[in-house]
Amino acid sequence: MKKYFTTAISYVNGKPHLGHAYEAILTDVFTRYNKLFGHDCLMLTGVDEHGQKVYDVAVEKNMDPLAYCDSLIPDFTNLLKASDVDYDVFFRTTDESHMKNVQSILQKLYDKGDIYKDYYEGNYCTPCETFYTEKDLNDGKCPECGRETTIIKEENYFFNMAKYADQYEEFLNANDDFIYPKFRKNETLGILKKGLRPLCISRKKEKMPWGIEIPFDKDFVTYVWFDALINYIDGIGYLTDDEKFNSYWSGAVHNIGKDILLHHCVYWPTMLMAMEVPLPKKIVIHGFWMGEGGKKMSKSLGNVIDPIGLIEKYGSSSFRFYVLREMSLGHDGVFTKEFFINRHNNELANDFGNLLNRATHMVVKNFDGIIPEPSKKTEHCDAFISEFNTLLSGIEQKIYDYELNKALDDIMKMIRSTNKYMEDTAPWKLIKEDKELCGAVLYNALESVRITSILLSPVIPKKFEEIKDIFNGEIPGDLEFGKLVPGKKINKAVSLFPKIEKEKEPEKVKEVVQDNLIGIEDFGKVEIKTGKIIKAESVEDSNRLLLTEVDLGNGDVRQIVAGIAKFYQPEDILNKHILVASNLKPAIIMGIESQGMLLSVKKGKKLRLVEIDSELPLGKKLV
Ligand code: ME8
Ligand code: MG
Repeated sequence: MKKYFTTAISYVNGKPHLGHAYEAILTDVFTRYNKLFGHDCLMLTGVDEHGQKVYDVAVEKNMDPLAYCDSLIPDFTNLLKASDVDYDVFFRTTDESHMKNVQSILQKLYDKGDIYKDYYEGNYCTPCETFYTEKDLNDGKCPECGRETTIIKEENYFFNMAKYADQYEEFLNANDDFIYPKFRKNETLGILKKGLRPLCISRKKEKMPWGIEIPFDKDFVTYVWFDALINYIDGIGYLTDDEKFNSYWSGAVHNIGKDILLHHCVYWPTMLMAMEVPLPKKIVIHGFWMGEGGKKMSKSLGNVIDPIGLIEKYGSSSFRFYVLREMSLGHDGVFTKEFFINRHNNELANDFGNLLNRATHMVVKNFDGIIPEPSKKTEHCDAFISEFNTLLSGIEQKIYDYELNKALDDIMKMIRSTNKYMEDTAPWKLIKEDKELCGAVLYNALESVRITSILLSPVIPKKFEEIKDIFNGEIPGDLEFGKLVPGKKINKAVSLFPKIEKEKEPEKVKEVVQDNLIGIEDFGKVEIKTGKIIKAESVEDSNRLLLTEVDLGNGDVRQIVAGIAKFYQPEDILNKHILVASNLKPAIIMGIESQGMLLSVKKGKKLRLVEIDSELPLGKKLV
């Protein structure tokens, strides 16, 4: 089957960041897994060049906008290369053929009557490139990023989204897995329920000229999102190569971040319906990487992670492994160097590295490097192979279901259970007692090396190339236990995942604590802030937990998992003004990152949140 995976195309108003690296790696890993399972796949990524915010930076730098964009392209392609992202298409929205396609689509929709002229008055958030009404705003600020908006009053062209709302809602209800994860589908249905307003799709040239000219009115350029979204179909030959387009589009999967749900799950499907193009297969929405302490990454907070720096220092494979394994797909994750080093050391250096070393070293030392025959069995062998096969047989479907974390969990379980099998059977003792039996155990261990390496290859492609040296450059690709052919020569694994030494922390000064009194300096360590619950939903498989998003002002929105489901329904707590312990180390609860704690009071079996005056400003520290 043909499949097509896309990332969002990045704004080129600055250098690429961790979010861009993560999304490209995530998309690449799904592409690679699908190729591994035999599908013909294409991957697209690229840059979103038009619009106000890129224009503003170019003006600030006193550069021609296109020359400015050109100057940043190497930063984006270098990051992709450094991250081992194996894309097929790098899309630029300044591409001539794309600009022509956007114009012909606009003309078609105009001729159909789906686009018309009207007067526009509203708010515009430049960082999000999104139009809002007064009602959408949150305390006068952008509801998505929390920043100031500007008022725009101008004649403009509009796309009549509402015309397709019912048709789209029906589609969503009939295609339960169109949006992943499920709670994002519900969020989309919520937006549709409120009713769709006409979407402004132009900007007046004299105010903002950096865009694709509207074909039926030279005084206007196209609104950046109406231009950018079309990249997904243009990238595989829409209107230029029908055969290619038709064969890949039906298997299209968009991978995007949670901040652009509105554009992908509302604007884009209604646009496609107007264009009479079928909808893609799926939209996968990932969460955000937060900085240390669960704070939004921002230049002003100084907690921005530079992906290139980490890749250069620790290698692309460890970086990819960390971001894919640490982030529970769909939820937010916290990036800290400590977590990064722990993952590398525990899972790559210890678990996987040990398996590679032990199995190959013993075969080289005791069997002249010749893969032994599995001609005998210990009491542990059948159970080990059967558990291994059970895990193995579930991986492919988990990838198709976007259960990436579960798939990776299972692969790590296969690795750990092989290590346990080696400890249980102790081939280093068996070699002295029964060489043939020892050989059989080592065969099984090598089979696990082969299969788990293949299964990890989409995650750690560069290291996989080195792992291949064990098997003289070519790993037999059959994903079935027992297909490794005895009698061939293998080589010792070289140290593939050396441990990362932690930088030493200064010794903590021990203090004598008397009774339950603490000094003011201890009290000062706890940061309690005022917040407002802006989202609440139940957590699948848990009757105890609610997943909330709490606004701490200034763009600091936290994802907090609270054990309050027995006391509150999600809708009970929405918009409540509450207190949050905001500098706790993030915790993983049921696989979901929690970036703080809602303060509550318990009385007997009852529990209530501590509510505060809604007039108090958000994000203020209690003193
Ligand atoms: O939105 N963690 O571009 P963009 C994870 N040009 N992902 C993050 C992130 C973070 N901290 N910050 C951003 C745009 N992202 C448009 C897209 S598509 C037709 C047009 C993700 O450069 C973000 O959610 O602002 C988005 O999916 C991608 O990075 C590019 O963001
Ligand atoms: Mg953005």
